[in-house]
Amino acid sequence: MNTVFPNKKGLRGTIAIPADKSLSHRAVMLLSLAKGKAVIKNFSSAEDPKSTLNLFANLGVDYKYINEKTLEINSCEGLRCADIPLDCGNSGTTMRLASGILCAQNFNSVLTGDESLSKRPMKRIIEPLELMGARITSENGCAPLYIRGGKLHSVNYISKLASAQVKSAVLLAGIQTDGETIFTESYKSRNHTELMLKYLDADIETADNKTVVRKSQLIPKDIEIAGDISSAAFFIAAALIVPNSDIVIKNVGLNPTRTGVIDVVKQMGGNLEIIDMREISGEPVGDLRVCYSPDMKGAEIKGDIIPRLIDEIPVIAVLASQAEGKTVVRDAQDLRNKESDRISALCNELKKTGIEIKELSDGFEIIGKNKISGGCELDSHKDHRLAMSFYVAGLAAEEEINIKDFDCINISLPEFLPLISSLMY
Ligand code: S3P
Repeated sequence: MNTVFPNKKGLRGTIAIPADKSLSHRAVMLLSLAKGKAVIKNFSSAEDPKSTLNLFANLGVDYKYINEKTLEINSCEGLRCADIPLDCGNSGTTMRLASGILCAQNFNSVLTGDESLSKRPMKRIIEPLELMGARITSENGCAPLYIRGGKLHSVNYISKLASAQVKSAVLLAGIQTDGETIFTESYKSRNHTELMLKYLDADIETADNKTVVRKSQLIPKDIEIAGDISSAAFFIAAALIVPNSDIVIKNVGLNPTRTGVIDVVKQMGGNLEIIDMREISGEPVGDLRVCYSPDMKGAEIKGDIIPRLIDEIPVIAVLASQAEGKTVVRDAQDLRNKESDRISALCNELKKTGIEIKELSDGFEIIGKNKISGGCELDSHKDHRLAMSFYVAGLAAEEEINIKDFDCINISLPEFLPLISSLMY
């Protein structure tokens, strides 16, 4: 349980946003396939990327921390069979991407997860991987996954889902087959796997929503991880809705496949400025200045922007509650398959604070701008993104809000409380 008190003075100061979770997973996985030594700078300290690191350590990859956030990966020996089930913890990215790698190995693996992960749909990766010749047994499409390793063949797969996890599973299997694997998606999902594969010299081409990979031996190279825009989103939203706020967020990954939240903030009339664009290990990065914005307007959020802000939707809901008029989110039905059913949990919990929100099958509608009353307890449903979104609501509320199971934030951002406290004075 954590209690958040209304903030009347405003958030002020500068923070550096911690490492991106998606990139941290991929750096470990791709360097594990690269056969050699390389350093990951600014590796995430969150639980999900650590699940990936432990998993690959159990597959024979050596690693050592050079300092708190710098990690050397040594994959000279290649991957070998783990004699225990591989625990993916709470991390869907770990389970789905690792499946793509493991089904092409010459050994068997078992992937398990916690209670939440064991309920999440895995058919979405099993189906395309089976088309490549993979042999995966599941519990009705859910974990544990029993993977019989073996030789795969390439596939030309058109995905109904815009999912980076599905795409990455297929591409990571694809670079281990002899043919040419083609993956096409309806809307473009985050392209970190493609960019990192390219950075490590894989044979890969992308055009619009289509990616082509061929058999590749990755070359180990040092990777620096950019800050996580999905973590930055909580601070962006807080600064926009807490009166008198003016903050700078440094080192934010600004890959266009992730910046939907910035587009929405601008569309709503939020005061957000990008101040210094640069590139780190093939990924765009910048600093953001965000100020209190009392005159924001509601927005319509649907279609191809959804995969570009899928993880930010809970905190966008809080933001929308403080914008004039109606905000509608549609085409986001996959939110029901995240760490919790984020549509129903978000709607039910936010209603308790006086926010006017109506659940839809594939999203929700919010009517702003109402005061956030507070004086209540919200259940995070052990979902890190809900917990931090509710904290942001609490900062702008009339009275304190208690958040149940708040420690689930360690899944993606253990630094959340010290960072937010550093902006209070
Ligand atoms: C992720 C992709 C997204 C996102 C998840 C991380 C990734 O999921 O919601 O938090 O690192 O590839 P989907 O690809 O299933 O949409």
